[in-house]
Amino acid sequence: MNSAIQKDVELVEKALESSVPVRGGMQEEVWNAMRYSLLDGGKRLRPVLALEFCKLSGGTEEEVLPFACAIEMVHSYSLIHDDLPCMDNAAYRRGRPSNHKVYREALALLAGDGLLSLAFETMLQEDAVAAVGPAKAAEAAGILARASGACGMVGGQAIDIRTEGKRLTLEELEQMDAGKTGALILASAEIGCVIGGADCALREAARKYAAAIGLAFQIQDDVLDATGDEVAVGKTLRNDSVNEKCTYVTLMGLERAVSESARLTEEAVAALRPYGEAAEVLIELAESLTHRKQ
Ligand code: IPE
Ligand code: IPE
Ligand code: MG
Ligand code: MG
Ligand code: MG
Repeated sequence: MNSAIQKDVELVEKALESSVPVRGGMQEEVWNAMRYSLLDGGKRLRPVLALEFCKLSGGTEEEVLPFACAIEMVHSYSLIHDDLPCMDNAAYRRGRPSNHKVYREALALLAGDGLLSLAFETMLQEDAVAAVGPAKAAEAAGILARASGACGMVGGQAIDIRTEGKRLTLEELEQMDAGKTGALILASAEIGCVIGGADCALREAARKYAAAIGLAFQIQDDVLDATGDEVAVGKTLRNDSVNEKCTYVTLMGLERAVSESARLTEEAVAALRPYGEAAEVLIELAESLTHRKQ
């Protein structure tokens, strides 16, 4: 991993750890369930994007960190709910049993709900708002709210669930993936730009980059589900075919899916031109994501 990204990940891990302290009392279990999924070592792609775009736009890591953590909390909640028996019914996530396998369904549901609320609490805490000013904080929170909801991640997940066993057109599949996976990735880049104070041209370039890597990311996720090694990937695989999902692999075949992901990565890299050489870290990141094995 690139050392700048490694540093971002370390910062994020530390901040996430302090956002979900161990608590006693009657709510102990729900906090433990939230900690279980938030602190279990995902790739932290979304907060890294927020940090990198913020720095490229002239902001600091400290300013964007609460917002970056908030995005990861929403992502983490989406994974807990995604694995539930009523959704993808996946028993294994990030190298260990899924949240509901440890804490059971009702608590997994609540841990997801708790993380979603904690995301907004984290972004809107007094210090976070004071550091960037209320206008930027409100804009960032609005972006995350829209991206998380029925026009974004939740909307994409709803399409995913209601189209099991059906064949989508490529356009419909793109719409589903832009929602379930693309929306939070796009929001991460945009929030970085907002907090860093990017101008319109830089923000548009970030949007294009993030939209392209978002789609490439889900294509690679579909490829890994079909071909990856469960231990290396760390989550239940071959689940898309069990659940009769329509994916890039079922629609285009493996080879074309892989080349589509490579094409989108090139598109993403080209979109970063307005940032010049400073965007090297994000170029490397995009390229590493298409070849990832987990
Ligand atoms: C998995 O996301 C779910 C998708 C949106 C494809 P990630 O692959 O980013 O999961 P973690 O956070 O690294 O575990
Ligand atoms: C999940 O897509 C996207 C969200 C969690 C919003 P997948 O269902 O393909 O993700 P994995 O493969 O279980 O990580
Ligand atoms: Mg799913
Ligand atoms: Mg799933
Ligand atoms: Mg998947």
